[in-house]
Amino acid sequence: MIANNQESTDQQLIERWRGQPAPFLALLHAFHNRDGYLSETAMRAIAKGLRQPIADLFATVTFYHHFARAAGGLKQPRVCTGPVCRLRGGDACLAALAAQGATPMPCAGRCDEPIPVLIGHEQWVGDAAGNLARRPTPLPPANPAGIEECVFAQIRQPGRNTLAGYRATGGYAGLTRAVTQLTPAAVIEHLKASKLAGRGGAGFPTGQKWQAVADALGTPKTIICNADEGEPGCFKDRAILDYDPFAVIEGMTLAAYATGATRGFLYLRYEYPETLALFEQAIDAAYTANLLGVRILDSDFQFDLYIRRGAGAYICGEEGSLLNSLEGKHPFPRNRPPFPVTHGFEDLPTVVNNVETLAAAAQIMRHSPDWYPGLGRNGHAGTKVISLSGDIQRPGNYEVPFGLPLRTLLYDWAGGPPVDRAIQAVTMAGISGGFLSGDDLDSATIDEPSIRSKGSMLGAAGMIVFDDRRDMIAAAHNVIEFFAHESCGKCFPCRIGTQRLVERLAGGGPADLALWLEEVNDLNSTMKAVSACGLGMAAPLVIESLIQRFPAQVAAHVKHQT
Ligand SMILES: Cc1cc2nc3c(=O)[nH]c(=O)nc-3n(C[C@H](O)[C@H](O)[C@H](O)COP(=O)(O)O)c2cc1C
Ligand code: SF4
Repeated sequence: MIANNQESTDQQLIERWRGQPAPFLALLHAFHNRDGYLSETAMRAIAKGLRQPIADLFATVTFYHHFARAAGGLKQPRVCTGPVCRLRGGDACLAALAAQGATPMPCAGRCDEPIPVLIGHEQWVGDAAGNLARRPTPLPPANPAGIEECVFAQIRQPGRNTLAGYRATGGYAGLTRAVTQLTPAAVIEHLKASKLAGRGGAGFPTGQKWQAVADALGTPKTIICNADEGEPGCFKDRAILDYDPFAVIEGMTLAAYATGATRGFLYLRYEYPETLALFEQAIDAAYTANLLGVRILDSDFQFDLYIRRGAGAYICGEEGSLLNSLEGKHPFPRNRPPFPVTHGFEDLPTVVNNVETLAAAAQIMRHSPDWYPGLGRNGHAGTKVISLSGDIQRPGNYEVPFGLPLRTLLYDWAGGPPVDRAIQAVTMAGISGGFLSGDDLDSATIDEPSIRSKGSMLGAAGMIVFDDRRDMIAAAHNVIEFFAHESCGKCFPCRIGTQRLVERLAGGGPADLALWLEEVNDLNSTMKAVSACGLGMAAPLVIESLIQRFPAQVAAHVKHQT
């Protein structure tokens, strides 16, 4: 009898989600939330309900970090041991919470206020002794120079994350103008003229992406906001979503109007449970105000928006993986071409844009097309939010004009390194751009061409500062361990190469420096040449920059096999 009752409630959950778009993750979370873990019975019921082979379901579920497989698992603390938290005592915090069954988790996107600890659906901030406190996401600091911003222009206004507050501070002016006065083609021209490019890392021109989806055949079209933000050192999307959710909704709705899309998803990383609740409320408010759903702003335009929560896997930020994850497939990156603009969600035309890109688009539509390019310096168009963390006096999310000297951000805006310390290195692109150091810090400006000229990349623009106390071999080891852990395993140069690099940084490999370098350079060049996605191509940058900028530390490491 009990078993029958269980079966019928399982069936009800399955029925509730089966008819919904992208039901897979939502259904897994529904069971996970209900039971506090994914039991074998639940897995069998889901496999049957979704007509998936049970072996495939097991493989996919166990790929994600956060689906607990043992009773009570959801409530056990997960402690961030990412590169910044390691500087702040993440490992000690983990040890202090061991009696509660704590396990480590990769960077949880709160590097401005380490150490994040997830317990159930709450994110706490911990310290090395295991003391925990609950605090809202830090508000982005204003820049001390009063330089005009785009994405953060209104974010500090009280009530901005309510619909009334958003509207009172200029929100929805852009969408209203677009829907009531402009054709979709004119909206795309406006975006193209603004020179906005993707802020998720690859920097593809946004207007061009929207144009490709507008031109592509096949319906329904989809807008996906990529809020996976798994790159260590990046925590900007969280601040935007928490303090300016309607800007993201408005940006997605604009993209839908411009491209003819009728459905959208926010793909939100698991580690932001409070953001999930806030964003759900924002979507409800937008529906109630006729800003989502049918006949938006009394026009014929229709757009439905859903949230799907990730389950912990850095690779799901890569757009092909994200699409597979949404579709309930194993989240491997997809081979490209074809690209998502023609063959995205369910093989139909799809825009995938980062949170910051969409929030910027909403602001850009409120202004004339030449406003946004004018915010940058020295011919670079617009602005970029930098997530700054590590050994720096005032960590946080700073919106800078492209072209700002790196030194100005580090020293004038963020206060420089701790007292009596010097900056030894700064990572770029979260960790994917490797390390800059020495003269680079004085000569680099914050724009892609300048950072690339140093052999690195700006990407999503997380920057982690290491002061002169830090062991750079240990820092690089921690970073490569992350890549090895998060490598999806689809292609062997990355799957095996990241492991071999971890071993080399842990003291393995030849004791002769020339041989060690030959081996490591061979691994790097193979990974760069044949890895199937950006993860396998980025990991070598970390080692290359380590070898180039810290040769003495590398030589000592190889000699002493530490
Ligand atoms: C390993 C890997 C992880 C990524 N993670 C993210 C992410 O968390 N958020 C994001 O917006 N883009 C991420 N990207 C880039 C996306 O594939 C894609 O380019 C981006 O979402 C497009 O949006 P944009 O044009 O607005 O930047 C990642 C790429 C790679 C290779
Ligand atoms: S490069 Fe790494 S993460 Fe990317 S597809 Fe290959 S194995 Fe997966």
